[in-house]
Amino acid sequence: LHAELESLMTPAALVDVDRMQANLARMAAYTKRHGLALRPHTKTHKSADLARRQLTHGASGLTVATLLEGETMMAASSDVLLAHPPLGDAKLRRLVQMAKHVRTTVALDSPEALAGVARAADRGRVEVGVLVELDLGMKRVGVADPRRTVELARGAVAASCLEFRGVLFYPGHIREPVAEQGPALQAVNDGLAEHLEALRAAGLEAEVVSGGSTPTAYVSHEIAGLTEIRPGTYIFNDRTTSSIGACAWEDCAYSVLATVVSTAVPGQAVVDAGAKALAREELRAPDATGYAALLDRPDVVVSGLSEEHGILDLRQTDWRPAVGERVRIVPNHVCVSVNLQNRIWGVRGERIEESWLVEARGWSR
Ligand SMILES: Cc1ncc(COP(=O)(O)O)c(C=O)c1O
Repeated sequence: LHAELESLMTPAALVDVDRMQANLARMAAYTKRHGLALRPHTKTHKSADLARRQLTHGASGLTVATLLEGETMMAASSDVLLAHPPLGDAKLRRLVQMAKHVRTTVALDSPEALAGVARAADRGRVEVGVLVELDLGMKRVGVADPRRTVELARGAVAASCLEFRGVLFYPGHIREPVAEQGPALQAVNDGLAEHLEALRAAGLEAEVVSGGSTPTAYVSHEIAGLTEIRPGTYIFNDRTTSSIGACAWEDCAYSVLATVVSTAVPGQAVVDAGAKALAREELRAPDATGYAALLDRPDVVVSGLSEEHGILDLRQTDWRPAVGERVRIVPNHVCVSVNLQNRIWGVRGERIEESWLVEARGWSR
């Protein structure tokens, strides 16, 4: 596939291939240097091809949030972690099918989820690995009390088709600038130590201690006992990641190519990328405004969104785009924007070199 960008209809999702490769290489080098396993979260790209690229850049397995992501990623890796508690027969049936083909691990935080996975694994005659999910401050899923960690781990050990593999947590509550993450990381360290000690005291060993996110990725080695990280966003980065200093603006590999379709209203320009291309995600950073910013002019933000219209705020800039001009827009939260695309286009400069289907969108084929 070699075509000029000019030939693409907008809006179109672009990935700067060189920037993506650099992001992948940087994470591979970091995890190798610190002896951490890398298990990227594939929810960011939902493409088996891009997952293969992560596997050639240091990843030893993959993380998924949905069964469809898991089924898609089986084509790329023989080792898949479902980092979402599987509840209900339909999900459990699909989980068992997965486990017939690849080494499958699930994270869970309740006796109900544990019992369901145990029953399904038994019936399907497959082995499923279990990580007990800890709440180390995120307050979403995960057990906070180390006694519950031990109970769930014991439950996994006792079930014949389950294998207790360790613990998992997601430090998604740590969104402050990288330089200011110290106290929050200390709290994670202290909390994790309590759970690991409780397991050890009960004669249980957490072979896997899985953590990591893009905002905290490069300080993961400061968390004692961590064996693995699961960054997702790092492959592309986005305006949030850059605004907290977890990457440079120049590391943003993903943008939505859009066309200026109107400048009729003074002080703004309207593009053909709206909420259905960029996603309406707030910037979780101090003094932040807008839903996205121009790649080449980060001071120009998307201040408003309709479904198919994006409003560029021109009040802080002398730049006055012409109707018909094209711009590249970096969304606040890349994963949600990618999830709105059928296909993303790999570009080098003005050339389209490859493309990837966002295969694992939705929950079933
Ligand atoms: C459980 C879990 N692990 C890992 C990640 C990856 O985090 P990030 O996108 O910040 O890299 C996420 C993201 O939502 C997650 O929910």
